[in-house]
Amino acid sequence: MEHIRNFCIIAHIDHGKSTLADRLLQTTGAITEREMQEQTLDDMDLERERGITIKSHAIQMEYTLDGQEYVLNLIDTPGHVDFSYEVSRSIASCEGALLIVDATQGIQAQTISNLYLAIENDLEIIPILNKMDLDSAMPEEVKDQIVDLIGCDRDDIISASGKTGLGVEDILKAVIEKVPAPKGDPDAPFQALIFDSVFDSYRGINAYFKVKNGSIKKGEKVKFIATGKEYHADEIGTLKLKQTPKQIIKTGDVGYIISGIKVAKEVKVGDTITTVARPAPAIQGFEDVKPMVFAGIYPIETDEYEELRDAMEKLQLNDASLTFEPESSAALGFGFRCGFLGMLHMEIIQERLEREFDMSVITTVPNVSYQAYLTKDKQTPIIVNNPVDFPDPSRLDRVEEPYIKATIITKSDYVGQIMSLCIEKRGELTNQVYLTTDRVELSFNVPLAEIVFDFYDRLKSISRGYASFDYHPIGFRESKLVKMDIMLNGDPVDALSALVHKDNAYDLGKKICKKLRELIPRQQFNIAIQAAIGAKIISRESLSALRKDVTAKCYGGDISRKRKLLEKQKEGKKKMKQIGSVEIPPKAFLAVLKLN
Ligand code: GTP
Repeated sequence: MEHIRNFCIIAHIDHGKSTLADRLLQTTGAITEREMQEQTLDDMDLERERGITIKSHAIQMEYTLDGQEYVLNLIDTPGHVDFSYEVSRSIASCEGALLIVDATQGIQAQTISNLYLAIENDLEIIPILNKMDLDSAMPEEVKDQIVDLIGCDRDDIISASGKTGLGVEDILKAVIEKVPAPKGDPDAPFQALIFDSVFDSYRGINAYFKVKNGSIKKGEKVKFIATGKEYHADEIGTLKLKQTPKQIIKTGDVGYIISGIKVAKEVKVGDTITTVARPAPAIQGFEDVKPMVFAGIYPIETDEYEELRDAMEKLQLNDASLTFEPESSAALGFGFRCGFLGMLHMEIIQERLEREFDMSVITTVPNVSYQAYLTKDKQTPIIVNNPVDFPDPSRLDRVEEPYIKATIITKSDYVGQIMSLCIEKRGELTNQVYLTTDRVELSFNVPLAEIVFDFYDRLKSISRGYASFDYHPIGFRESKLVKMDIMLNGDPVDALSALVHKDNAYDLGKKICKKLRELIPRQQFNIAIQAAIGAKIISRESLSALRKDVTAKCYGGDISRKRKLLEKQKEGKKKMKQIGSVEIPPKAFLAVLKLN
């Protein structure tokens, strides 16, 4: 136990975490040159393409310092805010953290929020200045920032480069010398924290855990406390590049267990594993990951509903944070209301449905989860995950919406514009701190609903990329919300309904009608596009009739070409969605997202 070191890497997105992790693995011989694929840790295709670590992983290395062999368990953490729950579980499994800061970028919002998590968990922090190979590195300035932030010695900051390998030996040495060995009682009942799980279609779920107390032997009967389920530890082992089966995993170590679990939902990150023979209590209060954003997902072809259900179930097998339940829409037929951790998560699920399952789906406008209180019971909230379920205003006492605390770090030049953006988004400034003369940290309380849409894109464009952003939920607050319906030729399109703030309703209604007018192709009759609150029409656009003859341009007698074009037009039509008499392209359902 005294020769084990468990550590993680925390960093803002793109500061070079995965690249540096690969270097550590290479230097310790955990992977060979041949096995060295770019970003080995990001082993999902999608992850590699997006260049981000979506799920955290763990890997064991061996390293000898002064003749003593050490076991180093590296737990990789995802960098995007959507996945911060996983970051916190990974951090809870470690005794130390490498804090990586890009020497060209300096400290960013997620550097700070992850650092706070690490400090809360009493981790030893090893500061690292990465990307020192780049000419644009500003080592002195960024070192100042780091010293200011964590109060370390300037000399404690290790200069490194994942590209050239600079500083890698120093990092390994620092891990051994500074990160404390895990504590725990080897003789106590077995107690282990699950910090991650992966899905394997042949062997079922592999749960990754860190042993806090006691040990576990292969074949023992185990219990997962939060789910209350019992299994046999069919296989246990440690995590090298490949899994290495073992007979026993002891206190302080990190390992995996395979116990024939087929469904991701049964393995919850943050749960405690113990043995049935000598049960231990849960390590810490278990909190279910809560979806933050909800949207409907519908098959474009209504008869593909069962296929879609199949695909969603398979996705959920290996992504327990995805939730879904059947719902139906007058406009779109049968589909699912899905819960996501955030917008990135939603995009990933949509993309996986398309790529891995070849499904063409319509995703409806995402919304957050509201709490509505009725006049007849002002205490018990009705949870509204779909605007369609919003109670009739005459029965309503009040509505509350989720708020977040947003932290933005930017250059002082952009402060004015960012403040205007936040105020436009119904945010209130709670704090403003100058980190250096030209770097500012702004804190806002903002409704989550306002962040869900185009906030991040707007922030990026206002600040020309020089703003980083992070957020945490801070609970529900009362808000003046109304349900806005969109109607086509008098028929309400339920999938386009949205809950909006009363003060923004008119403006938003106008923009949506305009946008829909652009997106809906002209048809053989006039179409009225209207936005309404209750019975009151707040905006109207009309789209005049037109018959598009795609063959008009094909003069001459090439009949086969004409037929091809007509076929193509039919194909195009098939992808449209028929709402009443009007045909709508699927992208129209997300129109409200891109209003600016
Ligand atoms: P996420 O997993 O998305 O949080 O990103 P990350 O922090 O793991 O960053 P990643 O290792 O994917 O690196 C981001 C980009 O920076 C990639 O294009 C890398 O090639 C590049 N990069 C990483 N380390 C270095 C370095 O030391 N020097 C230089 N020049 N580029 C680097």
